[in-house]
Amino acid sequence: MIKTVGVVGAGTMGNGIAQVFAQSGFSVTLVDVAQPMLDRARASIEKSLGKFVEKGKLADADRDATMARVSTATSVDQLGEADYVVEAIVEDASAKCALFASLDAVVRPGVILASNTSSISITLLGAATRRPDKVLGMHFMNPVPLMTLVETIRGQATSAESMSIASDLCVTLGKTPVEAADYPGFIANRILMPMINEAIFALMEGVGTADAIDMVMTLGMNHPMGPLKLADFIGLDVCLAILNVLHDGLGDPKYRACPLLRRMVAAGQLGRKSGQGFYSY
Ligand SMILES: NC(=O)c1ccc[n+]([C@@H]2O[C@H](COP(=O)([O-])OP(=O)(O)OC[C@H]3O[C@@H](n4cnc5c(N)ncnc54)[C@H](O)[C@@H]3O)[C@@H](O)[C@H]2O)c1
Repeated sequence: MIKTVGVVGAGTMGNGIAQVFAQSGFSVTLVDVAQPMLDRARASIEKSLGKFVEKGKLADADRDATMARVSTATSVDQLGEADYVVEAIVEDASAKCALFASLDAVVRPGVILASNTSSISITLLGAATRRPDKVLGMHFMNPVPLMTLVETIRGQATSAESMSIASDLCVTLGKTPVEAADYPGFIANRILMPMINEAIFALMEGVGTADAIDMVMTLGMNHPMGPLKLADFIGLDVCLAILNVLHDGLGDPKYRACPLLRRMVAAGQLGRKSGQGFYSY
């Protein structure tokens, strides 16, 4: 029976993931190496729950009860009691492998370790543990409280039982799971990132302004958000990391990250979270 969930990484995704678990009645321990990120995450969760209250979709008492179910910690050593863990740290294979090795040492042997990775091999993360049958991908979409899809990813050694537990858990959270195989970028980013990258090339080559490119895709293709605005929302560092995984893993030059994207990331222009990307925030 899953009661307590550990969420590791309290950035854009980690705080959303912590929120949806807490809203569904799970006790959540949110872990980050940086205390300021934990403080920000609590504030973001409170703000997001406040919006649900304003819209009349959540009672004041449920907001307070949800907040009370979220505790924070600065070390994974606090996850000894966890019944399920979701990792949402930086999109970096070596950082994730190191974390999965430490989680494996701390978290009880039967517990599933899920990764929210956008593109990194689940098989690789599983191989960093002694429980590869219990390592899987649980790829939430941003913003987590609003988006219903969760892409679930089965690594080479992931058991059918683990996949079934993850899938049931998605349904408990009010989400719809869709299973993808363990190839770079899975389904979502294999398709989304080349489009975002192409939009950045179009901007770099002066085919159109950022507004023009986004407007063509919103008004012309009925996308709810243009690709450049979406890239800002995802984080330009995250987009670059995913494109690098696609390029390395699939070997096709069509996945080569646009030089403008590289330059912006090098300059610290990471999109909404840094205040500057293709737009100013
Ligand atoms: N941003 C998106 O739209 C999006 C969507 C789906 C999936 N993802 C994936 O989710 C993951 C997190 O992305 P994000 O956008 O939330 O990143 P982010 O940069 O906003 O947050 C990452 C957090 O991880 C923390 N961290 C780094 N190393 C850590 C460690 N060893 N232990 C604990 N905490 C650590 C950082 O302090 C930071 O708070 C990535 O794998 C990313 O690919 C992102």
